[in-house]
This record gives sequence, C-alpha cells and structure tokens, in this order.
Amino acid sequence: MPMNSIRNGKPFLVFGAPLLEDEEVNEVVDSMRTGWLGTGPKVQRFEQAMAAYKGVPYAMALNSCTAALHLSILAAGIGEGDEVITTPMTFCATVNAILHAGATPVLVDIDPSTLNIDPKLIEAKITPRTKALLPVHFAGRSCDMDAITGLARKHGLKLIEDCAHAIETEYKGRKAGTFGDLGCFSFYVTKNVATGEGGMVTTSNEEMASRIKILGLHGMSKDAWKRFSDEGFKHYQVVEAGFKYNMMDLQAAIGIHQLAKVERFWKRRREIWSRYQEAFATLPVDLPSPEEPDTRHAHHLYTIQVEKDRAGISRDAFLDHMTSHGIGVGVHYLALPEHPFYQQTLGWRPEDTPHATRIGRSTVSLPISPKLSDEDVEDVIEAARRGLGG
Ligand SMILES: Cc1ncc(COP(=O)(O)O)c(C=O)c1O
Repeated sequence: MPMNSIRNGKPFLVFGAPLLEDEEVNEVVDSMRTGWLGTGPKVQRFEQAMAAYKGVPYAMALNSCTAALHLSILAAGIGEGDEVITTPMTFCATVNAILHAGATPVLVDIDPSTLNIDPKLIEAKITPRTKALLPVHFAGRSCDMDAITGLARKHGLKLIEDCAHAIETEYKGRKAGTFGDLGCFSFYVTKNVATGEGGMVTTSNEEMASRIKILGLHGMSKDAWKRFSDEGFKHYQVVEAGFKYNMMDLQAAIGIHQLAKVERFWKRRREIWSRYQEAFATLPVDLPSPEEPDTRHAHHLYTIQVEKDRAGISRDAFLDHMTSHGIGVGVHYLALPEHPFYQQTLGWRPEDTPHATRIGRSTVSLPISPKLSDEDVEDVIEAARRGLGG
C-alpha cells in the first residue's frame, strides 16, 4: 500500500468500497445463526422490496447481473441466429451474456456527451435478424428512452435494459428497468446497492418472470427452494436444463438493508459529484455533462477524460499518479472492440465505434462511494489537481 504526502499515512482509498453498517452485519449474523444460508425467506423479502421500489409485479433475485442478462435474453426468446444491439461502452458481461445465449451482439457507437448508445445510429444497424435492443444506462445516466422505446415498437424488438449502474435512475418520472420487457440490476461490491455478488431481473411479464425463476435454479419447477422448509417436503420436477444462478440468503441479508438506504447513499454520491464538478471546473479535462432535464442520474460513476495533448499527462500516467497518492481509480471502460476475443470472433475494430474508442482510452473513474468522508473527497481533489497541473 503506497504511503504518500496527500493521504498522510491514511489507508489506501479503495475504489468503490461499499458502505456496510450494523444493520447489514446483524442480518448476516442472523442468517448464520438460523443456519439458512442459501436461497430462502430473505431472498424473497429482497425480491419483494425491489419489486416495490421499482413498482413492478415481478423481481427475481440471481447471483449476478451477468446471470440476469443471460436469463433475460433467453426468456425473451432470443438465441441462435438472432442479433441483439448494444453499446461498446459497457462491461464485457453485457455482450458475453448475448453470446452465452447463442445470439450475436451488434454494436452501435455512443453519443460522446452522454456516453450512452446513440439512438440516431441504431436504425442503420437493424436487420431482419435483430430481435432486441439492450441499452446500458452508463454511469447511471438514463438513455434516451423515448427514442429507444419508439424504435423497439416500430421494429417489433424486445427491450432489455442493463441497469447495472442505474438503480435510482429515472427518465421523465419513470424508473429505469421498467421501460422494456426486462430490467437487469447488479449488486456487485462496487454497485449502488451492494451484496458482494448479486443481481436481479424486474419485469411486468408473468411468463418471462416464471421462466427466469425456473432457469435460475437448474430448470426445476417454481419454488423448488422451498423443498426443505417447514411447509413439508415438496417434490420438484426438472422442466428444462437450467443454470445454478440463485441468490443466497446471506447476500439478500445485506441487500435488504442496502436497498432501504438507497436514497441516503444516492444523496451522498450526488453531493460528492457536485463537489468534484465544482473543484475540477478549471482543469484541462472533460467532466461529465450536466444531467438531462426531466431525468434522475444515479451518480454511480464519476468519470473524467484525460487526454495527453490537453492535460499534459497521459491517462495511464494519471492512473499511476492517483494510485501512488493513495487513491484507487477505475477505467469504465476500454471500448469492447479493443479486446482481442471480440476482434477475433466477431471482427470488431476499434475504429468502427470511434467515440467509444476515444473515450475508453482517456476515461478515468474517481471514487464516489457514500463511504467517503469529506476529508477523503478533498484528498481525491488534491491528488487529481496535482496530477493535472491545477
Ligand atoms: C454495465 C454492466 N453490466 C453488467 C455487469 C455485470 O454485473 P455482475 O458483476 O453483477 O455480473 C456490470 C458489472 O460490473 C456492469 O457494469
């Protein structure tokens, strides 16, 4: 762990560290004492709380957002020979889930100001094989949902929202994850609601909800997790070859309390966001665009663009500078066509999505966890200013 002048011997500021409090600790201990560690009543409580938060009838907890995306694509009836349109500015899980379902991901470049898929470029990529649109609300900024839902309706496409960054996101008063057929959420350790690993699908479609429940637990008939409960032994039937994607009560124990605090955490991140916007206004870097009117930004990531010509330091040198000053930083994301696997198997080239490529090579995520104290935030600002000559 680097010691440094800015952090004055304080511990390294871990990027995306979750804020876990007594409620989460006590609930996990309660699960351990009762011995019900696996899928059980706390998962059901967490699902009910998420369904209520989103205002949808169905929420299915799984062990990751990757699993949520995979099962959503399958439940939407998408497979071999089908194409799914998505963004290059996302985590690899988004396109891997499409590939795991047997379908082909097709990329549409981003709008360099929102960093979200550019709806104006989507129609040119729609073919007779296109079956779904899979937008990602990057960093918690809502995609242009009027344009995207309009295109889905016009072309008869399914709409699956990757809401890994977007628990609190809203567009014109409506919550992210409720626009399309299915919404997929992540509770990975750095996410706005953290359970370590975890995911959820939200939907208003009963048939898809039921299929996801079954596929998430080996393809066993619904409510198979109750087979060891005090309601008496229940036989189950395997109705298709499913997956081992169920969430544990240990994870839900954390999630129930994290979700109850989602507004408080969001307000703290918004406060840190505003402080950074103000502190970095005169630095030679691009800052996040202001929030679009009539939307609610989830403030999951705070990203700046460090370009050597302007900032006098390369992005990678700036990452090293921050780390050596005790500040954990992230890169969200190198554009997906930069990775050799996609180049080799799908023929993707960085120059085909130029905005995502340029941003992926210059972007840096600064810490914005609600766990940060005011002093931590000032340390981040001080280190960034020194690195950028401010
Ligand atoms: C945009 C996006 N989609 C999907 C995922 C996958 O989530 P998980 O780690 O819960 O599988 C992530 C996680 O980092 C993400 O950021």
